Amino acid sequence: MSDRRESILREMGLAPLWKRRTRAVAAGQAAAAAAIPQANPAVVAVDERARRIAGMDWDELKQSIAECRACRLCEQRKQAVPGVGDTDADWLFVGEGPGAEEDERGEPFVGQAGKLLDAMLAAIDLKRGRKVYIANAVKCRPPGNRTPEPEETAACFPYLVRQIELLKPKLIVALGKPAAETLLDAEVKVGASRGRLFEFRGTPLIVTYHPAYLLRNLTDKAKAWEDLCFARAAMRRLFE
Ligand code: URA
Repeated sequence: MSDRRESILREMGLAPLWKRRTRAVAAGQAAAAAAIPQANPAVVAVDERARRIAGMDWDELKQSIAECRACRLCEQRKQAVPGVGDTDADWLFVGEGPGAEEDERGEPFVGQAGKLLDAMLAAIDLKRGRKVYIANAVKCRPPGNRTPEPEETAACFPYLVRQIELLKPKLIVALGKPAAETLLDAEVKVGASRGRLFEFRGTPLIVTYHPAYLLRNLTDKAKAWEDLCFARAAMRRLFE
């Protein structure tokens, strides 16, 4: 982190930035794979896949996601849902995984939760596709909208990492616990993580509630609004 960013964060009472431990090789991170030679053929295959994904451009990434059969979520999907938005984004919002409507249309957050996400974006003068990119921790719909299993988020993780590398967002907003846990590689309680600035490999990251949760817990909407104001303030102080 630069001295300037560090001193701004201190001034805001946000330093130190919260860093999490790095993910195990089994989760398929290319960097870890490169650093630790493996003899186990299954691990080598996972690492090799992560390395290939780490070298893809947008078109290759979309194609690879569309054809992916790395976990069982591919079995029941209508189509994979890679992500949507401005590839020159400042903001990256990461959800959990596609639901039925997203699976049908191939775009994230187009159902009820998506309508609320769009309203949340509008509340801080943002718009889907304008300096904003929206992705999910897993790109294929978990049957019945269940929470993705750890092996499913691990299989999809290299895609999310590559999206972040290509986008180079200024700020990542993790929507809900599964997205936060995927990105922070740690157990996360959303309530306890609000109002704190984390980082994912050097990119500032904040955690807030998932829009689907907010649809069921209307009283927490005000907290999500506070979180977005916090995110916007951090973005302004860090980058303007
Ligand atoms: N919930 C998510 O986490 N992602 C979507 O794309 C839709 C609903």
